[in-house]
Amino acid sequence: MINYNEKNKTFTLDNNEITYIIRIDEKAHLNHLYFGKKICLADNVEELLYGHLEDKLFGGDRLLNTYVNKEYGSYGTGDYRSPAFIIKQENGSKISNFCYHSHKVYKGKKSLHPMPSSYVEDESEATTLEILLYDEVSETELRLFYTIFAKHNIIARHCEFTQKGNSPIYIEKAMSLQLDLADMEYEFITFSGSWGREKEIRSRKLNWGTQSVSSTKGVSSAEHNPSFILKREHCNEDSGVAYGFAFVYSGNFLCEVDVSTYDQSRINIGIHPQNFTWKLEKGETFTTPEAVMAYTYKGLNKMSQDFHKLFRERLCRGKFRDKARPILLNNWEATEMTFDEDKIMSIAKKAKEAGVELFVLDDGWFGKRNDEVHGLGDWFPNLEKLPSGISGLSRKVTDLGMKFGLWFEPEMANMASELYEKHPDYIFRTKDRHSHSFRYQYVLDFSRKEVVDYIYKQMHKVISESEISYIKWDMNRYFTEVYNIELEADRQGEVMHRYILGVYSLYDRLTKEFPEILFESCSSGGARFDAGILYYAPQTWSSDNTDANDRVEIQYSNSFFYPISSHGAHVSAVPNNQTNRITDIETRANISYFGAFGYELDLNEISEEEFEIVKKQIEFYKKNREVFQFGNYYRLLSPYENNNAGFMSVAKDGSKAFALFYERLAKPNRAPKRLKLRGLDKDSVYEVSILGISKIYYGSYLMNVGISTYISDIPKKSGDFNALLIEISKI
Ligand code: DGJ
Repeated sequence: MINYNEKNKTFTLDNNEITYIIRIDEKAHLNHLYFGKKICLADNVEELLYGHLEDKLFGGDRLLNTYVNKEYGSYGTGDYRSPAFIIKQENGSKISNFCYHSHKVYKGKKSLHPMPSSYVEDESEATTLEILLYDEVSETELRLFYTIFAKHNIIARHCEFTQKGNSPIYIEKAMSLQLDLADMEYEFITFSGSWGREKEIRSRKLNWGTQSVSSTKGVSSAEHNPSFILKREHCNEDSGVAYGFAFVYSGNFLCEVDVSTYDQSRINIGIHPQNFTWKLEKGETFTTPEAVMAYTYKGLNKMSQDFHKLFRERLCRGKFRDKARPILLNNWEATEMTFDEDKIMSIAKKAKEAGVELFVLDDGWFGKRNDEVHGLGDWFPNLEKLPSGISGLSRKVTDLGMKFGLWFEPEMANMASELYEKHPDYIFRTKDRHSHSFRYQYVLDFSRKEVVDYIYKQMHKVISESEISYIKWDMNRYFTEVYNIELEADRQGEVMHRYILGVYSLYDRLTKEFPEILFESCSSGGARFDAGILYYAPQTWSSDNTDANDRVEIQYSNSFFYPISSHGAHVSAVPNNQTNRITDIETRANISYFGAFGYELDLNEISEEEFEIVKKQIEFYKKNREVFQFGNYYRLLSPYENNNAGFMSVAKDGSKAFALFYERLAKPNRAPKRLKLRGLDKDSVYEVSILGISKIYYGSYLMNVGISTYISDIPKKSGDFNALLIEISKI
């Protein structure tokens, strides 16, 4: 899978479908030659090197190399595109000259733990190339890591800087991945939005200059997701060329494409350089987070399936990685913080009666938490509301025959809290300046171990005294006034990254100490829905917007990179909390099935008739959840382009599939539409049932002709916001 050609001085990484080629030039610099569909290289590697001819024509010093495609381009020696890294030396110079020193190839993959990274279980699953470069003046080593997977068309990358010299260096920019593509004929597809409307798909053609998405907010954010696609114009779900990129990190990020006026596209992915510097003293190493890149010539759906498989099976970890997720009911939308034990038990009992497996108590159970102003940081039960505490309540719930789950927001404090009274210095605060609050809360300085320890102790106590099977880890504000009161001035640029390392370290301790607990991450909905967090929490709450119509879009967008088992998706009450929209309970469930399914309402409040429907939904999902959560997922119709949406999951063994057809607004007398299915066996015969009416078809028919979806033809199904569930069983 990785071969070094001594004559050409090229490294070739390949599997059955893709090839990646790097070359060491005559000045011992690394050029990027190729990433794409599998090719074989004869002798003339020079022709692959984009930009070389121009430099020769101008008779330039090869060091200038302005438009030569680089592997990890530096700053200040004539390449004016956005560099992969900048290191400032003691004399203030930011110039470097990293030259090839040596390399290693080995089976398997290096772990970055406790920083998240993809992994292998057997060394034959991947091969890694480690290239060591050295800059003589600053006496710094730079290691570039490339892992190619045997069965995924994905390459994982990261870098390490190690200071060997006596003088410290300051890393001002250190991308995890740089990729120089030879042209600019791509659409740049990003997943951007805001609270309640996460991951809207945005597309623009690349153009000269820099285009980027980023976060400097402390978390990966709801505004931009740290993942994007570059696709050729004619690439669609089924065919065509695209590159996909994801950053395996939960903090500030930059995903940029710098397009030169010679039409080359330079991709950089890494920690956002704004507010970042890292001081490296002799003997110290700085490791960048991991970034992964995929290539497909088989369309976007194939690329998503590759990401799903890698993230689900070799990024997520723990007991729940391959396990069907419990059907949960969360009390947040039903009660917010206004409840007592009787109220909670009445919701829990009704949930049990419906067949729910896990009851989750959300915000409001601790300290003096009756509103947003009080209690964050005090992770001990509010005995006025819950006289038997969390230990008593959790036992009462488990005695009903359900598991019990609990909400925490470990990274935050209110000023009205015991934590703040005892440790006012624990929150981020810049000396002599006002600290801004948001939702009356402040960010705890998790870059300090002492602060993380304090929270760990409190959480550990509640968890170990109670029967807890699930934790929802929330995070509800972006950062301001970031400053660590213990670090020296020249290390303040490290705080945001140290913070995320603090978050990962707390996750690490808790997941090790309590391996039986399922973690779900959350950040005002989906503001921290990134690949990094999946390493610790295999599912993420997709959005605070639980409206079925909007969830079709959000879940559809999630599916480009993140496996279906990771999308927290719940049925909530109507009119919807956020949109006031009314959709029927079947539509709400049919959409939520495509995720880690649950409910977000008090089942005592719905009609008897609806309650009977809920019971049937739960029974249905228990039988079929593996197909939804772990099946091969296909997007069929985009809600961003149509009045309709469609997607489906096919069981790994092909025996069963479920498809969703969604119609946003009803139209009388509209043109008949057919939904073409994907992923079936063309020669097999299937029974297809919609609302209890079954018909028999060949796979080839279903995939090429499709099934009729004229919703107004189906009894009881006219009206807006209709999601039909289609069950497909192989005969
Ligand atoms: C934001 C989350 O997204 C909600 O689900 C809920 O847990 C609230 N926080 C509680 O404050």
